[in-house]
Amino acid sequence: VKVVRTIGDARAALARPTESTLGYVPTMGALHRGHLALVEAATAENDLVAVSIFVNPAQFGPEDDLERYPRDETRDLRLLEEAGVDVAFLPVADELYPAGFATWVDVGGVSEGLEGAARPGHFRGVATVCLKLFNIVGPDRVYFGRKDAQQVEVIRTMIRDLDLPLELRAVETVRDADGVALGSRNAYLSGEEREAARALPRALGEGSRAHAVGFDAAAAAREVLGAEPRLRPEYVEVARWNGTLVLAAAVRAGSTRLIDNVILEEEPR
Ligand code: PAF
Repeated sequence: VKVVRTIGDARAALARPTESTLGYVPTMGALHRGHLALVEAATAENDLVAVSIFVNPAQFGPEDDLERYPRDETRDLRLLEEAGVDVAFLPVADELYPAGFATWVDVGGVSEGLEGAARPGHFRGVATVCLKLFNIVGPDRVYFGRKDAQQVEVIRTMIRDLDLPLELRAVETVRDADGVALGSRNAYLSGEEREAARALPRALGEGSRAHAVGFDAAAAAREVLGAEPRLRPEYVEVARWNGTLVLAAAVRAGSTRLIDNVILEEEPR
């Protein structure tokens, strides 16, 4: 894997003949099998694959975990090497956000509610950094995990509204054997919290079953979560974004915030 850290080096490393395609996976590092599934999907349908690792300060609020967010560059680069990634772009914050930086991308509608309400400014930071990274990397296809369902729809909306010449691929959530969705923040969980976290996918599964027979998905999921005192639900809601009906939840296990979702209905694209 060729490692580049400046915008100039990234552009040079990713320059290619027009007929070859580039798949791009933006990440914040602390890579796990969920990220590797995105790399695999990108590898399957592109000539070149690029991955970025950047813990984007602009998407963390003052109460968020920017300082303690897990970072392990050596391990991440080894995983990318093993996965056959062509280019790893590890930008530095000072170059992406130089003094005087003043342009932000606000995606209306889909950014509101759920994660948008719980983390004000989060999606503005995500959309802005993604647009910047897309402009630098110049991919034909970009790969996002469905675990961040609202993020997928924010990026999908931005690509559509700003006429970006690239396609978005949403890749299925990767789960451990007990159903818990893989996430970089799972590393924070104690043994007991990790055990309690199983109630989250269980609740979403119950919500999905309830919806299928005409009952209230969110109410069914809340009931399951209510029986696990070690989890504190932040929200459990049904949302419709770009034709997809999703049951999404955020909970706290100790000080760790976990999100997950299940698709209830989806229009064919
Ligand atoms: O999902 C993430 O890891 C981040 O939100 C992303 C897309 C890399 C933007 O910083």
